[in-house]
Amino acid sequence: MTADFIHVFEPPAEPGGPILLLLHGTGGNEHDLVPVAGMLLPGAGVLSPRGQVLERGMPRFFRRLAEGVFDIEDLKLRTAELADFVTASAAQHHFSMRDVTAVGFSNGANIAAALLLLRPEVLGAAVLFRAMVPLTPDALPRLGATPVLISNGKMDPLVSAEETERLAALLRSAGADATVSWQNSGHDLTERDVITAREWLAQRQAR
Ligand code: MLT
Repeated sequence: MTADFIHVFEPPAEPGGPILLLLHGTGGNEHDLVPVAGMLLPGAGVLSPRGQVLERGMPRFFRRLAEGVFDIEDLKLRTAELADFVTASAAQHHFSMRDVTAVGFSNGANIAAALLLLRPEVLGAAVLFRAMVPLTPDALPRLGATPVLISNGKMDPLVSAEETERLAALLRSAGADATVSWQNSGHDLTERDVITAREWLAQRQAR
């Protein structure tokens, strides 16, 4: 039985067009990144679920034990539920999972990275804003040159440069085509992140 997520779905402007899987940060919801999607890839469809874990009333995609310390069993379970939701949505709305690009911020970026590591078949690409290493999988997935953009902040008090490079190395060791882009910022999403991701997505669409 597929977990049902409260979500927003908007079809792409053209049938068979790209779909952005929008994954909000802690305390966000399914509406947060919809305006950003319009800036990133105009005409793309949108699938935007709300995380099902509540931390003091704030939605998240998986439990954490402390800041940056994740409940790995819960993360694995929630990643599987989200992957099943994307699979079911693809069947319902007739899109291909190869056309799905995850766009995640913070907690949403972390579950997007977990999808890449545990259920790579549900994503064609990923844009990770302020991502950490969510977990180290028992076996490396085969990411077959899946394009991944990691856009992190140089002054982020939550995610170090070392952790960012560790995530990129982990994804590359699984075959992903991972690019790291550094912003002059902290943990918050900036205009520069949006511009960087928009250009990166446009280049991929042009191929
Ligand atoms: C957050 O606040 O969401 C964290 O920095 C990332 C996470 O807990 O996944």
